[in-house]
Amino acid sequence: MSSPAECEPATPSGRVLRLAVLASGTGSNLGAILDACRSGRIRAQVLVVISDRPGATALGRAQAHGIPTLELPPLTGESRTSHGERLLAALTRFDIDLVVLAGYMRILSAEFVQTLAGRLINIHPSLLPRHKGLHTHRRVLEAGELEHGCTVHFVTAELDGGPPVLQSRVTVLEGDDEARLAARVLEREHVIFPRVIGWIADGRLTCDQGIPRLDGHALDAPLLEDRLLEDSSAGEATPR
Ligand code: GRF
Repeated sequence: MSSPAECEPATPSGRVLRLAVLASGTGSNLGAILDACRSGRIRAQVLVVISDRPGATALGRAQAHGIPTLELPPLTGESRTSHGERLLAALTRFDIDLVVLAGYMRILSAEFVQTLAGRLINIHPSLLPRHKGLHTHRRVLEAGELEHGCTVHFVTAELDGGPPVLQSRVTVLEGDDEARLAARVLEREHVIFPRVIGWIADGRLTCDQGIPRLDGHALDAPLLEDRLLEDSSAGEATPR
């Protein structure tokens, strides 16, 4: 098991991207991010994992890696704004560069999102802008769609509406049910989420004024994982 200290950068000059991961559930995406850190595929380290759900499996996963965890459920009757303020206060203690929403099932306050503009990313299990919100796999099947997938995007105050960066497409197969389709989408999530974090860690991807830029080029549409030219030896990915 790795500790945060094991995720040092390949180059001593570059600062390792300091991540906070917010997760409500299983934390399989957190696991994929931790693997990418530990293997050195991305120059990042997870400093803290925070959950709104006490006892969430994601917290145990973090603890097994020696990573500090915080349980921060909303207080009874607490406003979204107040909860966001407590979250921000907790994050301040860890000098975080990027906040990663990995299955965080609570809507964040506009103030929270604004404070972290350009430093807050999310993974969503659909090809946004299709199927914002919950139950995406079910809705794809009910609509009889042939293509599904997942999206990594920067977060804005509009739910699942922030600028998308990278998508992975998944073909809907004959006989798929919600669980089978979800499992195949999740596999792709585990690939594209660490990849985007890696781009940010390498200084290749930024988001200023709501416009994501990869290698200086504004992304007016999300990149598609299957269309990236890859140099696996360098871990590079260049749009075709
Ligand atoms: C993923 O499907 C993610 O896209 C969605 O919530 C799920 C979290 O899964 N936002 P896990 O907790 O990372 O396993």
